[in-house]
Amino acid sequence: MKHLLKITVAASVVWVVSCSPEKPRFEENSKKNTSSAVESVADPTKGIGPVKHVTLSTPLDQERVKRGKDIYEMKCEACHRLDDQRVVGPGWKDITKRRKPEWIMNMITNVDVMLDQDPEAQKLLELCLTRMPNQNVSVGDARDILEFMRRNDGEQ
Ligand code: HEC
Repeated sequence: MKHLLKITVAASVVWVVSCSPEKPRFEENSKKNTSSAVESVADPTKGIGPVKHVTLSTPLDQERVKRGKDIYEMKCEACHRLDDQRVVGPGWKDITKRRKPEWIMNMITNVDVMLDQDPEAQKLLELCLTRMPNQNVSVGDARDILEFMRRNDGEQ
């Protein structure tokens, strides 16, 4: 039953996104987010998943950058370039400027739910027409990949 539901949702997603004139319902929430009292209200720009808050620090953690690069070469390179070219998935150049770190990590660790429910992820699916597979990446590994992405975007 759960599966059936998922399939139905996935099948309707592309259609709904492309044809619905409605704006995403989340917009009202994001306005309230300046107050910490509503921290429990999901921030749509952070995506959906286990990652609620990421603290970034400068300079980069070079150990993480290196681990992230290794994971990238093993599990992501087949579909993602480091420049802005789309192959199967979008190129990663400037992704850390386009997206919140939490969104990126939720996309990596919780891709099925993101593709079914997050409006931004659904736009990408509509563009790429391929579902990114769940690669069983841990939150810690996703953090390493994020650090590697920051390096790729020119941070030191
Ligand atoms: C089989 C191809 C494939 C592999 C392998 C893959 N991805 Fe993806 N990825 C996609 C596609 C396609 C999308 C666009 C969303 C969709 O259509 O599912 C995407 C989207 C993304 C996005 C959002 C991009 C943006 O511009 O906002 C991130 C982040 C991401 N992938 C991270 C990863 C990471 C990290 C790995 C490796 C652990 C990985 N992906 C492996 C296909 C892949």
